[in-house]
Amino acid sequence: MFVSDSLNVNKEGHLTIGGADTLDLAKNFGTPLIVYSEDGIRKNFKFFNSSIQEYYGGNGRVLYASKAFCCKEMCRIAESENAGLDVVSGGEIYTALSVGFPEDRLYFHGNNKTYNELEYAVKSGVGRIIADNIEEIKTLESLAEKYGKKIDVYLRVKPGIDAHTHKFIRTGQIDSKFGFALETGEAMDAVRECTKSKKLNLCGMHCHIGSQIFDPSPFVLAAEVMMKFLSDIQRETGITITELDLGGGFGIKYTENDKPVGLDGYMRPVSEQIKKSAEKYSLPVPYILLEPGRSIAAAEAVTLYTVGAVKKIPNIRNYVSIDGGMTDNPRYILYQAEYTVLNAGKADALPDTTVTVAGKCCETGDLIQENAKIKEVKAGDILAVLTTGAYCYSMASNYNRVERPEVVFVTDGIPRTVIRRETYEQMAQNDI
Ligand code: LLP
Repeated sequence: MFVSDSLNVNKEGHLTIGGADTLDLAKNFGTPLIVYSEDGIRKNFKFFNSSIQEYYGGNGRVLYASKAFCCKEMCRIAESENAGLDVVSGGEIYTALSVGFPEDRLYFHGNNKTYNELEYAVKSGVGRIIADNIEEIKTLESLAEKYGKKIDVYLRVKPGIDAHTHKFIRTGQIDSKFGFALETGEAMDAVRECTKSKKLNLCGMHCHIGSQIFDPSPFVLAAEVMMKFLSDIQRETGITITELDLGGGFGIKYTENDKPVGLDGYMRPVSEQIKKSAEKYSLPVPYILLEPGRSIAAAEAVTLYTVGAVKKIPNIRNYVSIDGGMTDNPRYILYQAEYTVLNAGKADALPDTTVTVAGKCCETGDLIQENAKIKEVKAGDILAVLTTGAYCYSMASNYNRVERPEVVFVTDGIPRTVIRRETYEQMAQNDI
């Protein structure tokens, strides 16, 4: 019935997540509130792990892309599910290390890592550093020298593939700020630069073609392009690269209009391509890394808001204002992202009105959804926005000095806070 299996409706007609009543959650924890089903998150990790087992005989690892939603508890869960982490900043590395996440399972990405971040990563023994540009390779060489360490490096490669998704979240094409281009020879030059150095161990290649991609074919194409590159590297330098990180980006269902192919729909054709290409180029099948973010976290959360003002503008639109908005979910203002919106107290009732859900910021574009079909709500009702587990809290801001919401995980129907609600004091604590 819903976009996620973690959701249901109880006999009172209230929306539940992970077995907990969303109206009780809103009452007990306040709103806005982001609620995750921990069971749902774990189920997704297990699904990816068993897929690696099935399609690559276990020769690979899932790296949760922590940019989707990063907090200590999420790192603990990823750790206990035997995943690695794709981290993109000193802050994400810090969060993982602060809960004892094994440093060798951290893969450090980013198109412009600062010297301090790289130094922190090297000092902490982060497992793999995915170099994005020549300057970074040079910095890594000098850090390896400084710390007397050999550094395991991947290169981020732009495979030259234009995936069909929103232009802001497309990354594999040549006109992208991420990585080394294949077409121009830049990627091979970077390989040579790494292999010149005795301190850098070039052990893998990485690509990520974009996010929320439904069609498996660009992933298959990227797999072939990357395997061909491994073959070119072997021919030109004699080095066999044995690790291949294929990134994330698997599309998920936000509304009934989305028709994802499911994990098998990507894994089967991509793994077949990898094996075929390995044979064609006489290469070993590499150790495969996948970096799901959205497909681990998004569908396992809802955001609960309290409805405030309801403004009916005849023949124009009906605004339903909520106590959050772009500060906890900037995805509509950024990408016009579609969401399923529900009256949480009447979750099984058929929609009878069309509304525009407006946030509380002084910004006309601060909307969560336009023309959403819902069961009518009035002031004081709880509105649920589904599938908000990825790129919402992690992209939250304090615009208008609005505090970031509390985040709760539900396990076996029992909720617990994993991120406290921000306070006014905390927001002002760095002001002098
Ligand atoms: N690996 C790399 C190198 C990435 O850059 C990303 C996402 C992922 C993995 C995970 O992709 P996922 O499986 O979550 O699609 N803020 C945007 C999404 C930006 C994605 C950035 N990189 C949004 O809200 O849709």
